[in-house]
Amino acid sequence: IKKIAVLTSGGDAPGMNPCIRAVVRTGLHLGYEVAGIMHGYQGMIDNNIVDMNSHSVSNILQLGGTILKTARCADFRNVEGRKLAFENLKKNNIDALVAIGGDGTFTGLERLSSEYDLQVIGVPGTIDNDLYGSDYTLGFDTATNTVIEAIDKIRDTAESHARLFFVEVMGRDAGCIALRAGIAAGAEAIMLPERDTSIEELIATLNDGVAKNKNSAIVIVSEGDKSGGAFNVAKRVKEVFNFYDTKVTILGHLQRGGSPSSFDRILGCRMGFAAVKALQAGESRKTVGLRGNKIVLTDIEEALKGHEFKLEEDLLEMSTILA
Ligand code: F6P
Repeated sequence: IKKIAVLTSGGDAPGMNPCIRAVVRTGLHLGYEVAGIMHGYQGMIDNNIVDMNSHSVSNILQLGGTILKTARCADFRNVEGRKLAFENLKKNNIDALVAIGGDGTFTGLERLSSEYDLQVIGVPGTIDNDLYGSDYTLGFDTATNTVIEAIDKIRDTAESHARLFFVEVMGRDAGCIALRAGIAAGAEAIMLPERDTSIEELIATLNDGVAKNKNSAIVIVSEGDKSGGAFNVAKRVKEVFNFYDTKVTILGHLQRGGSPSSFDRILGCRMGFAAVKALQAGESRKTVGLRGNKIVLTDIEEALKGHEFKLEEDLLEMSTILA
C-alpha cells in the first residue's frame, strides 16, 4: 500500500472523529500517505478527496459529528456509481480504504471490494449498536449517556407534576439505547423491538406503580418498537389509563450529537489504529470490532449476515424488576 483513504458514511456518531484521527496518524506513522474522502461515498463519486497530514486532525478528538462529513449515498448502490468512485480512487493513487459507518457503509465496502482490486477495512460507527462483530459500535455509549441525561431532566418535571412521560429514543431496528438508558435512568417500562410488550402489559406495570404510590412514571419507547412510536403508545394507554397527566417527548437527533464520551474516544482510537494495522498486515474485506475488551477482525460478509442479538439477558430480566 502507498496511500490509504478514510471516509465516514451513514448517520454521524460521536467517536468518528477520534477514529479518523487515529487512522490518519497511524497511517502517517507507518509511512503511508493518507487522504480523507468528504461526504462518504458521495465524495468518492464526486472526487471530493483531500490529502491529510497530522495537523488536519488536530483538535478534533473532542468533537461530535465527523469532520469528513457524511451522507447516505443512493448512487453508490449502482454499478456505474461504484465504477466512477473507483476511477477517482485510482486518480488519487489510493489503494486502501477505511470506511467508518453502519450496515449500509459495510454493504458499499463489500460491493466495491468485490468488483475492484482495493484493500478495505470497515469500522462500526453508529449510535444504534446493531452491528455484528463488535460488542460496541462508535457512538453508542455517548448517545446512551445523552439519553440518560435527558430522562433525568424529564424525571424532574414528571415528579413535580405527577406525570406519565413517554420518551421515544433512537435505534432504527435495535433496542440497545432504549434498554440501557431505561435501566440506567430507572424507567418504569421499556418498549423494545426485540420484545413484544402489549398495551395491557404496559398498563398493568403502570397500575403496579400506582399501587406502590409512585408519583410519576417514565416509559421508554424505542423508535423501532412495533407499537408505532411514542405518540401512538401514549394515545392507546390514555384511552384506558388516566391516573397521571400524560406527555410525550421525542428525543430525536439530539441523541446523535455531542462530544464523545471517554469510552467512544478510546474505542475510536483503538479501532482506527487497528484498521490501519490490519491493512498493513495485508488484511482486506474485514471489519474491526471490540469483543470482551479485545480488538478482533470479522469477515465483512459475516458482519453483514445480520444483526446480532445484543440485548443481554440479565438486562432484559432486570428491566422489569428493578424499577
Ligand atoms: O442509524 C442511526 C440513526 O440515528 C437511527 O437511530 C435512526 O433511525 C436514523 O439514524 C435516522 O436517520 P436520519 O438522520 O437520516 O434521519
